Amino acid sequence: MKTLLLMLALLCLYRNSIAVDLHPLVLVPGRGGNQLEARLTPKYKSSTLICKLSALFTKGSWFRLWFSPSIIASPFTRCFAERMMLYYDPIIDDYHNAPGVETRALNFGSTEGLMYLDPHLTHITEYMATLVNSLEEIGYQSGKNLFGAPYDFRYGLAAEGHPCHVGNQYLQDLKKLIESAFVSNGKKPVIIVSHSLGGLFVLQLLNRSPLSWRHKYIKHFIAVSVPWGGTVLQMLTFASGYTLGVPIVDPLLVRGEQRSSESNLWLMPSPKFFARKPLVITEKKSYMASDIPEFLMDIGFGEGVCPYKTRIVPLLDSLKAPGVPVTCIVGTGVETPEMLVYGDEGFDVQPRIFYGDGDGSVNIESLLALKSLWSGLEGEHKLRVINVSGVSHMSLVKDTVAVNEILAQVQSINSRLLTSFA
Ligand SMILES: *[C@@H]1O[C@H](CO)[C@@H](O)[C@H](O)[C@H]1NC(C)=O
Repeated sequence: MKTLLLMLALLCLYRNSIAVDLHPLVLVPGRGGNQLEARLTPKYKSSTLICKLSALFTKGSWFRLWFSPSIIASPFTRCFAERMMLYYDPIIDDYHNAPGVETRALNFGSTEGLMYLDPHLTHITEYMATLVNSLEEIGYQSGKNLFGAPYDFRYGLAAEGHPCHVGNQYLQDLKKLIESAFVSNGKKPVIIVSHSLGGLFVLQLLNRSPLSWRHKYIKHFIAVSVPWGGTVLQMLTFASGYTLGVPIVDPLLVRGEQRSSESNLWLMPSPKFFARKPLVITEKKSYMASDIPEFLMDIGFGEGVCPYKTRIVPLLDSLKAPGVPVTCIVGTGVETPEMLVYGDEGFDVQPRIFYGDGDGSVNIESLLALKSLWSGLEGEHKLRVINVSGVSHMSLVKDTVAVNEILAQVQSINSRLLTSFA
């Protein structure tokens, strides 16, 4: 018995000594990758009786807006869409929620809201649970040296100089989280692991902070499946609606809401990486990435043209190397929409889709965009790209092979610290 206790005590010491030596780690989820709560105030105006009744049912308290399985039933899809809707106000040059709808991300700083999108449906709504559990197996502890940075992913960022109250606030909160993780872990710089859209936010945060801040606080940036140059899938989303492959939802019911999202506009294919290639073809025209403003007009979303040109386009060109080590982990070899062909029925009918290489959502030229852009970098700052073949966009944070690849990176970054002390 005594020996057993001693062994347990030693094991604890051993585990703690590992935990003490680990660099704190912050997880930044992708679009739709964390729970989002909403609260309806008396200013909320609903379009249908069902939405009105379901609003009464919430009694002005917080409820889970994303994700809830009820949104798959069409009367509720409509309520969901109107509550998720964003509005661009050209006078103040910024986005805001629908009147009477307040939103918040669950528990900023915690990994809780990004493990599962619905805590009651853990199996089908798992997001980062496998990754978080695996990190805990190598000694990470949520709240101690492992943190999550959920956000209202409908909002994006704008080129500097434009108002962007939600996105800019998120960058500030993320910055504070990184600083406090650093302080509470013996001033060890932080490893950031992002997925998808989260990576675009992280790179902006880094490049908008002084170089001395980055050197002090950031150990390494691991960017998993980031659409650096947007996706062709996003043109499908804007033109005809996209239901993430859920077949029972009518894509046209969510199209308006998807068009309204600032972060969706940010993910339109960038002319820099999709050059001289038709991405959408109709009976009358073909559109390349440089024709996005015309495309937005033609699909009936003229409101998007001004924010796209003024807020997004300059942002697409700000992909500078941040001067800290970056590793991209990408999925490849999965059929990914590359070209959309519309018939004479117009954009309300789903197009014929032609596929190319990528992770199923993000095209290969977008996943690998930084490779050519940063090709001149040397030594520690040379971009590392890890190709996980046959693993799709969402599976990169769940699939065993992919998660092991992320873990291997985290462990090697941590062990480099140990050897430098030795
Ligand atoms: C990724 O790896 C697979 C298998 O090793 C290889 O066939 C493919 O060409 C690689 N793709 C890229 C973009 O490097």
